[in-house]
Amino acid sequence: MKSKASAPGKVILFGEHFVVYGVKAILCSINKRVTVTAEKIKEDKILVKSNIGNLELEANKNISEINSPLKPFYYLANKIIQNKNTGIIITVESEIPLGVGLGSSSACCVAGAAAISRLFSNTTKDEILELAIEAEKTIFQNTSGADCTVCTFGGIMEYDKENGFSKINSEPDFHLVIANSNIEHSTEVIVKDVKSFKENNEDEFSKLCKEETKLIEDVLELLKENKIKELGEKVNQNQKYLETIGISNQKIREMIQIGIKSSYGVKITGAGGGGCVFALTDDTNLNKTINQFREKDYECFSVKIDLQGLNTF
Ligand code: MEV
Repeated sequence: MKSKASAPGKVILFGEHFVVYGVKAILCSINKRVTVTAEKIKEDKILVKSNIGNLELEANKNISEINSPLKPFYYLANKIIQNKNTGIIITVESEIPLGVGLGSSSACCVAGAAAISRLFSNTTKDEILELAIEAEKTIFQNTSGADCTVCTFGGIMEYDKENGFSKINSEPDFHLVIANSNIEHSTEVIVKDVKSFKENNEDEFSKLCKEETKLIEDVLELLKENKIKELGEKVNQNQKYLETIGISNQKIREMIQIGIKSSYGVKITGAGGGGCVFALTDDTNLNKTINQFREKDYECFSVKIDLQGLNTF
């Protein structure tokens, strides 16, 4: 018997990093997916196959001794097959570029938790999310949980650490042009850098958190009214805050200058330090924005909001 699940990647529209300190963030899932297939096998082992390599290990290894980006799958499989007298093979297919802030690891954790757990029982989305966040913690201990949450439920949502997620019931009609700096980043390292910035600049950081909170209140209104140009101004404003906390660099600044020529706003999405920026457009400036990045040899593609979230087959 096979169990299959797919989960979307995500973009943080507003509030990355500040969300770690309790500010609200706004995220949306995107129409690029990870699909995971899980199947029981007779051999007593856990096997993960993916386009970034394979992992083959016996069950019950100490998770801290595993040094592989596929570790969350091992964690999930090992936890779920306890006392079940079976091995497992997991196959991962991804449309989401890795390690650039588009939620590839969260989508893997969510689709992995769903595909593996549903081989044995009819787990709910809430149970799957809980498993996925545990699995993500094996590679990023301090995750806020926001990424896995939006990959599970899809659409556009607000999230804060204290109150969790709440779906925003609007379907704003925009495109996001995602351009990749091709600089891989470690979310964990960048989150630590921001922590140092905060510790060295407590007053400034607390002022930024207040400004980000106000910006997000404004954004929630603009989303309801589908005011894309005004949202673009908020995108640019949020990018300034991200510059201040030190997660940008020369290449990102160059990409922002390219995107700003024709889109309504451009910012880093996710941890920064590399990764991706998105440019906010509608139908009128979508192609021009894509072409401007491509003319400068940046890998780029456009996405829309995914409304489905986790899907199980
Ligand atoms: C990473 O995609 C988002 C951060 O805000 C970290 C987190 O929320 O866990 C940088």
